Amino acid sequence: MSHEIVEKNIGLMAVLILLVISVGGLVEIVPLFFLKSTTEPVEGLKPYTALQLEGRDIYIREGCYLCHSQMIRPFRAETERYGHYSVAGEFVYDHPFQWGSKRTGPDLARVGGRYSDDWHRVHLINPRDVVPESNMPSFPWLDENVLDGRLTPKKLEVMRTMGVPYTDEDIAGATAAVQGKTELDALVDYLQNLGTALASRR
Ligand code: HEC
Repeated sequence: MSHEIVEKNIGLMAVLILLVISVGGLVEIVPLFFLKSTTEPVEGLKPYTALQLEGRDIYIREGCYLCHSQMIRPFRAETERYGHYSVAGEFVYDHPFQWGSKRTGPDLARVGGRYSDDWHRVHLINPRDVVPESNMPSFPWLDENVLDGRLTPKKLEVMRTMGVPYTDEDIAGATAAVQGKTELDALVDYLQNLGTALASRR
């Protein structure tokens, strides 16, 4: 009988559907915020240095994430090619995370340490110089643009409001840490750090 009332009253049905979905959502989502393995950094994970954080911003600005993922799935084909699959604790200092969703190029989650700094510099300025068949775009301006570091302390501060444990000294020294470096220096430093916290424990 009561079921009939619900079926004949679309307003009531909408409210009840919403209620069911919200409870289901809460039960699934809320525990994730308290589960240690999803919110604790993996051992050895360090916040990005000021220079690496600037590199991360260039990675976003240039749209690297449109062709590159940073998320190795736990499949044999992936772990044999890229290394240990990605775990949640590697991304706790990433705001926003750079998992991406498209792989025109290879996954970069563990690219840190795979090539030399010089390889990356040549590759980013003109990928064809090291990978002749590459169709990755060239980013030659990165080598010319010099960072002034004016906004770097602010960037660290914003990260700190989201729980990244930067100290007052980190923030005070942020401008000096990046001043005079090129965007290419910053991006290569960022790339060389990717995935290394977990890799070093293997
Ligand atoms: C239009 C798609 C595209 C964009 C945008 C792009 N890439 Fe690539 N990338 C590729 C392709 C394809 C390859 C494989 C060929 C090669 O190594 O050049 C590649 C390879 C790489 C590699 C070597 C990875 C490995 O394991 O061999 C790195 C590092 C890299 N890209 C970094 C970047 C960075 C940093 C940016 C942003 C500044 C970027 N890419 C933007 C397509 C792209």
